[in-house]
Amino acid sequence: MITRRRFVSKSAALTMAMGTKLPIWERFTAPFGDTDRVQAPLLLGVDYYPDQTPEKLWEEDARRISEAGLTNVRVAEFAWSLMEPSEGKFDFAWLHRAVEILHKHEVAVILGTPSAAPPPWLSSRYPEILLVNSQGVTVQPGGRRFTCPTNQTYRKLSVRIATEMAKSFADAPGVIGWQIDNEFTLQPFNRCYCKYCREGFAEWTKKKYGTLDKVNEMWGTAFWSQIYTDWSQIPVPLPSNGEPNPGLVLDYDRYQSHANAASAEEQLGVLRRICPRHFVTTNNVGAPLDTIDLRELFRNLDFVSHDNYPGFVQLFLQGANSPDAAALVSAIGHDSMRCVKGGKPFLIMEEQAGKAGQSFFAAQPHPGQLRLWAFQAVAHGAMGVNYFRWDSAKFGAEEYWHGLLNHDRSKSPGFDEIVRGVKEMKLLGREALESSYVAETAVSFDQDSDWALSVQPGNTKLTYQAQLISWYGAVASANTGTDLVHLDDDLSKYKAVFAPVQYVVSAKQAENIRKYVREGGTFVAGFRLGVKDESSQIVDAPLPGLLRDVMGVTVKDYAPIYSEKAGVKLGSELGGAEGECVLWADLLKPDTAEVVAKYTGAYEGEAAITINSFGKGKAVYVGADLDVMTLARVLRTVLAMSGSRSTIEAPRGVEVTRRRAGQKEWVFVLNHSKETQTVKFPGKFSDVLSGDAFDRSMEMKGYEVRVLTAPRS
Ligand code: GAL
Ligand code: ZN
Repeated sequence: MITRRRFVSKSAALTMAMGTKLPIWERFTAPFGDTDRVQAPLLLGVDYYPDQTPEKLWEEDARRISEAGLTNVRVAEFAWSLMEPSEGKFDFAWLHRAVEILHKHEVAVILGTPSAAPPPWLSSRYPEILLVNSQGVTVQPGGRRFTCPTNQTYRKLSVRIATEMAKSFADAPGVIGWQIDNEFTLQPFNRCYCKYCREGFAEWTKKKYGTLDKVNEMWGTAFWSQIYTDWSQIPVPLPSNGEPNPGLVLDYDRYQSHANAASAEEQLGVLRRICPRHFVTTNNVGAPLDTIDLRELFRNLDFVSHDNYPGFVQLFLQGANSPDAAALVSAIGHDSMRCVKGGKPFLIMEEQAGKAGQSFFAAQPHPGQLRLWAFQAVAHGAMGVNYFRWDSAKFGAEEYWHGLLNHDRSKSPGFDEIVRGVKEMKLLGREALESSYVAETAVSFDQDSDWALSVQPGNTKLTYQAQLISWYGAVASANTGTDLVHLDDDLSKYKAVFAPVQYVVSAKQAENIRKYVREGGTFVAGFRLGVKDESSQIVDAPLPGLLRDVMGVTVKDYAPIYSEKAGVKLGSELGGAEGECVLWADLLKPDTAEVVAKYTGAYEGEAAITINSFGKGKAVYVGADLDVMTLARVLRTVLAMSGSRSTIEAPRGVEVTRRRAGQKEWVFVLNHSKETQTVKFPGKFSDVLSGDAFDRSMEMKGYEVRVLTAPRS
């Protein structure tokens, strides 16, 4: 056993590195009802699977984890079978042994509740817990997330195992917090359409609308004879030989999201009650890859945890023509997760540690990329990074998802690089890791528009995700910091707010935008603005509906673009060149706005982009779906007009972000390309990581990371 003295001195070293006086697990003593009082920890760890590792190796693992400078692990989130081998019989002895060994090596523990993968005894005894997919097929056990989020048996049994775990580990030395479940992601295959969800949806609908008359009105059920006369008739959108009712589908997306968040909330209640000294979070992936309502999911949790796999993003983007597309999409993930709780630092609960893949592998990370990706998370507001995973499984569906150890337990190709990064993050210290991200601009990320547009994309190739990626890419490449906001948030702090394909606009959002522009903001909207209200009904006004006065235009007509050649000729304000109109053309009639670009080709001479002066601000309508390069030019020009300009000149592929705490500022410069690049800035900087000093410019090798201290603002 470790002596108390050694433990205290080791924790002191750890906490000094973190720039704080108390060890992380001792700081979680605040009453957790008030989440703002929770001190965020500095967590640099790994996801560890004692449940999949012979016990004789635990000691060696704990020692090596500690020697690598890692401060914590996350364990047990898929270990239900071992913790409750048969119904009501709990066995946590093995996990206590693992926790004790880790604690002895000064490795703190985050426990995962195991509800994402119930054991076979449970699904065979209670088959009603199984998820029914969008084709009405009951999903079989054997994978994970195969459960219905509404089913009370599943939810009760999930709460019970969480309760028993909480009771067993509330006072276990070394345990610092909880991850509820694992990724409540709401990809289409995670939505359930079973009879329990149907009942749950009817109840949710009743609570939302009160009367069936209201439901019928809001969903427009007069169409195709859908008028409901009893709550039991409310359906779920299973195949019905016809396109579904858009209002019903949007509400069903909201319901499924809510059902998942509500089941997390049940476990949270138990953990708060039994483990008041522990933090509670859950892990998820951010935009644009997931569509659960992240704000609802994380509302009462202490902080957001994000799973970051740039390799997976590369697979997802297969065929993308931009070399830095994966970095861009990862940045969206970070920014969205940071903004879920208003900019509060988030934790990377899973960070790619090496070659990644299940049946297909993502591209091999190049030397330097693993460090770069972890620093990218920090550059965007992460307060800590946990790598997935410590070892590489020798069995199971993820045996090729490589960890810090190879299958033979030797160090992986990325091991030393990860250890170096962890050391550097400690050097950076708690103050920097928990500082605020500086954002001059914002891009709207709107779950309702995403859901509503996925039912009716209009053009077969149009997706909300792709629009968000190109708009975010254009805005973020200005390197002035970008938040991903809701249009009903306070927008006043941003120089410009961008809203790609904001298909759904609520009255509240319209009023908020109106106020923002009136008071001097620059609001830039893409085509299909404000077509629908919150019920997914088409607005009862000429488009862009509630925002016609602000934008100063009327949409005369709108056209999906398929084979016709359509271009856009930019006016001199926007650079004067010609671009392509790819998937969509809103044909604009200026009311009070000025036309700054016109269509060529199929819609020759019609207005494509307008700028309106409204109050003290400006509203720009980009009616055309511009090709990526033209879009970047237009949005960057508008951004500069709004006064948002970076003082740092970074070439393409180099990302610059800032974090700030009081007078202190850290400038993160990340070279995502494999080439050496030159970055220019007015003045002198030094790199916190290497100690190197630079005067007005610096060379950065491929995949290099620098964290510059900025004496000026
Ligand atoms: C995450 C998940 C982990 C693991 C990892 C690699 O999304 O939370 O359990 O599956 O991906 O595939
Ligand atoms: Zn269900």
